[in-house]
Amino acid sequence: MTHPRSAGSGSRRIPLFGLLAALALGGASAADPASDFKPTPLSPQPDRDAGLRAFSEIERVLKHPRCLNCHVPDAPLQGNQATPHFPPVQRGKDGRGQAPLQCTTCHSIQNSPLLHAPPGLAKNGKPDWHMPPAHMKMNWVGLSGAALCRAVRDPKTNGGKSLAATEEHLVNDPLVAWGWQPGPGRELPPLDKAAFDERTREWIRNGAPCAPGDAPLTR
Ligand code: HEC
Ligand code: HEC
Repeated sequence: MTHPRSAGSGSRRIPLFGLLAALALGGASAADPASDFKPTPLSPQPDRDAGLRAFSEIERVLKHPRCLNCHVPDAPLQGNQATPHFPPVQRGKDGRGQAPLQCTTCHSIQNSPLLHAPPGLAKNGKPDWHMPPAHMKMNWVGLSGAALCRAVRDPKTNGGKSLAATEEHLVNDPLVAWGWQPGPGRELPPLDKAAFDERTREWIRNGAPCAPGDAPLTR
């Protein structure tokens, strides 16, 4: 894959391009996409098998350490081997850490360029690295197939999100997008982001099925 941002990263020859890429990235993680985002319409003739195949591709990403490291019982994991986070930190009530150690004590508004230094990201210019809150842990450890699919799809376990909000999260959320901009030394998820987004739309278009017996969802 020739990805313009990875190809351009570290290059001093094309600062304008770098700037534009940074702006495009900023745009994708700031307020605009909410207004641009259009939920994928459900197909009048959903193809359940195609939907299940699409989810099985999505699953490969969800279970990758870039995603799973935050989608855990109570303490985040780290690195390509998903080892316990060092130093040990806890989720805390709001997912932002437990005093005196907030996630943003170490995780700033951007990835560190150094190997093994904390990754970071911003929301509205402020550091926003965190895991899901204690009342809705979105812990996927040990889940697979239909169970993982339902955990992601069901508003009772996904942060109260409708199917449209789930799609918007998967396609536009900066925490998800970070998985493909994780900083040095961190492996990328198995599909590229465009393919992941396309599989997401395909799953939803076909009624977001989780199991062969599922009736297609209607929004
Ligand atoms: C004392 C500093 C510190 C605090 C506080 C901290 N982290 Fe980290 N975190 C790090 C460092 C350093 C790394 C990078 C380790 C590496 O790459 O080897 C890291 C990496 C991670 C990763 C791994 C990313 C990946 O995919 O490899 C996750 C997930 C993470 N932290 C979540 C959290 C969460 C959630 C909190 C708050 C509850 C938190 N961290 C608080 C220092 C910290
Ligand atoms: C730094 C921690 C962190 C990382 C890394 C992370 N997430 Fe999350 N994830 C969260 C938080 C926090 C929420 C809750 C957000 C909310 O409710 O708006 C969440 C919620 C979700 C949800 C539930 C939303 C729904 O509608 O079902 C999905 C799906 C999701 N993340 C997918 C991913 C994927 C895919 C990746 C990897 C590419 C990933 N996450 C990586 C922190 C993280």
